[in-house]
Amino acid sequence: MAKKVIIDTDPGIDDSVALALAVNSPELEIMGVTTLFGNSTAENTFRNARYVLAKFGASRIPVFPGAAAPLIRRPEIAAETHGESGLGYLVPEELFGEGAGSVPQQAGAARFAPLAILDLLAKSDEKVTILALGPQTNLALALAYDRELMRSKVAEIVLMGGSAGAPGNTTPVSEFNFWADPEAAQAVLQSGIPIRMVGLDVTRSIVFHNSLVEKLRTSGSEKAGFLAELMRFYVGFHREYERLDGCIVNDPLAVALAIDGRFGMAQPMYVEVCCTDGLTRGQSICDRFGFLKKEPNAGVYLSVDAATVIEFTLERAVGRVVSPEDIARGLELAKIPYKHG
Ligand code: RIB
Ligand code: CA
Repeated sequence: MAKKVIIDTDPGIDDSVALALAVNSPELEIMGVTTLFGNSTAENTFRNARYVLAKFGASRIPVFPGAAAPLIRRPEIAAETHGESGLGYLVPEELFGEGAGSVPQQAGAARFAPLAILDLLAKSDEKVTILALGPQTNLALALAYDRELMRSKVAEIVLMGGSAGAPGNTTPVSEFNFWADPEAAQAVLQSGIPIRMVGLDVTRSIVFHNSLVEKLRTSGSEKAGFLAELMRFYVGFHREYERLDGCIVNDPLAVALAIDGRFGMAQPMYVEVCCTDGLTRGQSICDRFGFLKKEPNAGVYLSVDAATVIEFTLERAVGRVVSPEDIARGLELAKIPYKHG
C-alpha cells in the first residue's frame, strides 16, 4: 500500500532532484506539492515545481503556492545558491518560451498552501506523511490554523533541516531551512507530531562530484541532462563557498528515508531551534545525551549510506545512467578540496 504524502518544497535545485525521485517512487502516493519562499521567491518556486513535475511526467500532481515570507522575519532568498530563477542558469523566458514546453496552469486559483494541506488531510481516509524540504513556514501556518487536524492526520513529518553537530551551511552553526524561519521550525518541532530530522549531519554526505554531474550531462538521457544542467550552477556555488568540486544534494535524502528508513540511522533526541538574531539564528540544539531531561521530539539522523542513496536516487529519477563505480569514484574525489584557477 503506497504511503500518502504531501511534499512541501522550495525548488530549488536539490528540491528538483527530490521531486524527480518522489514522482518515480511507487511507494509514495503524492497527494499534492506545496511550495514557498526559500531557495527562490514564492512565485518562482510555485512556477518551478510545476515545471519540474511536468519535466518528469507528473503534471497530474496539484501544486499549491504558499508563504512568501517567514512568520515574523523578512524573507531571505538563497539566490546565490540556486540562481535568480531558483533553477540555476535556467531562466524564466527560456523555461517557458516556445521550446521549453509549457508549464501547466493550475485549474482555477490555486489554494494557499497551508489551507491546501489541511484540505488534503481532512479528505484523506488515512494519515498522511509530510515531506518538508524547505523552510517550515507553511507547516507552521497550518498548525496555527488547525492544530488538532494536523496532529490527528499527519502520520509524521520527514524534514530536511537542522544539524546535530555538522557545520552549518548558512552560518557556522545553522542550516538554511531552519535559519530562514526559525520560529516556524520551532513551532513544528514542538507540535507533538512525530518528526524525523534529516539534517546536515547526513545530507553533507550526499555529494554529487563534478565527475558524476558530467556523467549525467553526457549520458544521452534528456532527464539526466536536465538535472546536470541544474547542478552546473550548484557546483559553482559549492566550489566558491565550500571548496567542494561538486554539490551537496540535500533534499532527496529526506525522500529516500521516507521511502525506506534503513538508508540511515537515527537517534531520538530533544531538539530546539534558536529563535535569535545573529550567529545562533536557526541553530538546532540537539540534546544527544539527554542533559535537558526533556522528551525526545525528533529522530535525528546521524549516519547514512551515501553511495546507496545516490544510486537509489538517480536510478529512480533518471534510470541507470551512471554506475556504482562512477558514484564511488565521485565520493572519493570529492574529498580533495577544490582549487580555484
Ligand atoms: O540547507 C539545505 C536546505 O536548504 C535544502 O532544502 C535546500 O534546498 C535549501 O532549501
Ligand atoms: Ca529545499
